[in-house]
Amino acid sequence: MERGYRKAMLALGIESSCDETAAALVRDDRTILADCILSQFEEHRAYGGVVPEIAARAHLDHVDRLIEAALSQAQVSLEQVDLIAATGGPGLIGGVIVGVTTGKALALAAGKPFLAVNHLEGHALSARLAPGLDFPYLLLLVSGGHCQLLSVEGVGRYHRLGATIDDAAGEAFDKVAKLMGLGYPGGPAVEKAAKAGDAARFALPRPLKGRPGCDFSFSGLKNAVRLAWTALDAPTDQDRADLAAAFQTAVAESMADRVKNALTLFQSRHPGPTRLVLAGGVAANQALRTRLSALAEQRGALLIAPPMKLCTDNAAMIAWAGLERWRIDPTPDALDFAPRPRWPLDPAATKLPGAGVKA
Ligand code: KG4
Ligand code: ZN
Repeated sequence: MERGYRKAMLALGIESSCDETAAALVRDDRTILADCILSQFEEHRAYGGVVPEIAARAHLDHVDRLIEAALSQAQVSLEQVDLIAATGGPGLIGGVIVGVTTGKALALAAGKPFLAVNHLEGHALSARLAPGLDFPYLLLLVSGGHCQLLSVEGVGRYHRLGATIDDAAGEAFDKVAKLMGLGYPGGPAVEKAAKAGDAARFALPRPLKGRPGCDFSFSGLKNAVRLAWTALDAPTDQDRADLAAAFQTAVAESMADRVKNALTLFQSRHPGPTRLVLAGGVAANQALRTRLSALAEQRGALLIAPPMKLCTDNAAMIAWAGLERWRIDPTPDALDFAPRPRWPLDPAATKLPGAGVKA
């Protein structure tokens, strides 16, 4: 063997904290050998949102098959895996239990180290799967269960600058879509409807805009949409499109205002280049991206929007976060690790309602 040569470590990642069952194989040289994912849209569509019991049952039905598919796609056997990382929380507890139990069983059977990864840490570090993103950076995590701004200072070093005080951004999109009969998942449906809409027709609030701090709020906006919607008799497709556009614009403006404050705070603490990284399903929203990219440019920051496959829930980010943790501390988690429905990334952050639930 050549001097200095080190065999790359290979991690198996398992994700099951919400409505995606996923398994991935990732090497610590950033190669994704397999990234298998199964979304449960059909199972939950009739209910307009994720039903925890149905999600847990579906994870149980599919997790083994997904792991087999990932191993076969990567053309490796379990013996060649160096580390098994499963999402240990936060999330819907039934699903987390399925992933954690599967990970532990495989680790025990194959004699491999097991790591329980914080799902939020997976999101926080996923952009580093592309080369060149060094610490620190500012992360905007906007998904169905989370809405947070984090200063990511190193592996295991996360400082929460703000979070939602009520609904998560994706949750607001989903509820507004349900209200207007736009289907599930709501975000893409609202974005599609908004394309044909006139955002100026409805005057909606911009929650917390102009206020100090980096927290978010969406429930007042959601209620304003409800009032506008119920005031329409026999709403037409055009009404729907206009209200969707007005809502989306209000979310983007309010969010950009919060991110502006976070950038000011981040830049005062970290001189040097500023990177603003997006994560979570809502990061797919084009109106939001356009608004944030204008803001980043004004502030001399670089906006980094990883490919959507890495922004939404996936297992590659869990495998990668496991590898990042292992690099700085190669200590496995005990096999009696208890899945955690709540697991804030920054325990020092003030406790807010909505913090630490599913991401
Ligand atoms: O990160 P993610 O895939 O799963 C978790 O919530 O954990 O995010 C899903 C959320 C859903 O609420 C969905 O409606 C929202 O992201 N979303 C969007 C868009 N695509 C997905 N929201 C706004 N615009 C979109 N294009
Ligand atoms: Zn997530």
